[in-house]
Amino acid sequence: MTDEHYSLIDPKSGRRLDFPVLETTLGPNVIDVTGLYGQCGVFTYDPGFGTTASCTSDVTFVDGEEGVLLYRGYPIEQLAEHSSFTEVAYLLLYGDLPTADQLRAFDYSLCTHTMINESLLRFFNGFHHNAHPMAMVSGVVASMSAFYHDTTDIHMPHDRDVFAHRIIAKLPTIAAAAYKHSKGQPFVYPLNSLDYCSNTLHMFFSVPSDDYEVDPVAAQALDLLFILHADHEQNCSTSTVRLAGSSGTNPYAAIAAGISALWGPAHGGANEAVINMLEDIGTANNIPKYIDRAKDGSDPFRLMGFGHRVYKNHDPRATIIRKMCHRLLERLRANDTPLFDLALKLEEVALKDDYFVEKNLYPNVDFYSGIIYRALGIPKSMFTVMFAIARCVGWVTHWREMVTDPGTRIGRPRQLYVGPDKRDYLALDERG
Ligand code: CMC
Repeated sequence: MTDEHYSLIDPKSGRRLDFPVLETTLGPNVIDVTGLYGQCGVFTYDPGFGTTASCTSDVTFVDGEEGVLLYRGYPIEQLAEHSSFTEVAYLLLYGDLPTADQLRAFDYSLCTHTMINESLLRFFNGFHHNAHPMAMVSGVVASMSAFYHDTTDIHMPHDRDVFAHRIIAKLPTIAAAAYKHSKGQPFVYPLNSLDYCSNTLHMFFSVPSDDYEVDPVAAQALDLLFILHADHEQNCSTSTVRLAGSSGTNPYAAIAAGISALWGPAHGGANEAVINMLEDIGTANNIPKYIDRAKDGSDPFRLMGFGHRVYKNHDPRATIIRKMCHRLLERLRANDTPLFDLALKLEEVALKDDYFVEKNLYPNVDFYSGIIYRALGIPKSMFTVMFAIARCVGWVTHWREMVTDPGTRIGRPRQLYVGPDKRDYLALDERG
């Protein structure tokens, strides 16, 4: 807490009310309004939580004005260049970069949890072959709460650790099972001699009747995408996990809630929506038409992959991924260059347009991530599932932080009620 106070005069009583200011290590300080209702009988109104800190956290810092993203203090650019996804997962979960021994032990622990219970695997047969993979994945993850009863006491540090390793290790296996089900192909078991991302590609793309060797370029690209998507402080899905978890619910159920929140096109579903949009646009000649639609307030169409609640200058993840798109499409000799060229053209036109400039609308990470997933051979409907695999690390980290924070209370927002005043029930024959 700082020595500062924010004061306001209560218009009803004329009394001066003081609210303490809480100090952050980075970013703006925060006014503690918890005493507001008690002191003057009013709530605050902040739809979308645009100016409300819902918790304290020491995991991730985002500066939207400067385009800064830090995981546990480390800039995303440095992690993207030097780290690996499982090292970043360790960093997020435990607060510091691991030693070589700690990383080996963590990777080994993840390996020992990659298989899923055979009963869980049979759940997939119950889904229609063209079910959206996010529907299957959220359903199966929620069903995990029906397993592992012996290790889901959220008050036990050991159980929380087992849960964290288990869900991070099993999510690629569940995602690959959803993919194989939609293709009508046999499920492929994890191969624990492979690293996390190679194993993910192996479970997706190998078939029993053929040899399959993971392309190291593809595994590296996936690893980088997973690093970029691993956490983003109190975003919609992470806040959902925290809110669901604040009731003390089963942790797998809380993660399933996060997966459902991620699915929407304004959040993780944007990477799929970007490719749909680029396919609809088709050629550069059509760009002005779509830009006009995005600017037309009466048209619900938005330029997908543009804009961000927090980044108002640039999304640092988009800068990293844009460079990677160039390199990767060349190295994989992918035939997706026209789509990438169209994306670059659209970006160029939008960034010069007054509407996008005035509203600070820049390409976000998901403007490019779908292009990379496509080049890796991952179908559109699986893009958000890939995002979920990466973001699961952030969800688990925030869930653990929330559960162990003595200041946590069940999430229970207030409202600005605008419904009817109190009225009396009328019998059927008395209604007009
Ligand atoms: N195209 C056209 N206009 C836009 C766009 C867009 N992509 N994004 C925002 N605007 C306009 C919006 O219409 C509004 O205009 P006005 O002030 O005239 O009403 C203004 O910009 C502010 O928009 P907002 O919806 O109030 O901003 P927000 O912070 O609530 O929403 C957003 C942020 C990301 C949901 C939004 O920019 C959007 O829908 N973008 C497209 C979807 C997308 O790419 N989502 C991925 C986000 S990054 C990955 C992740 O975090 O999951």
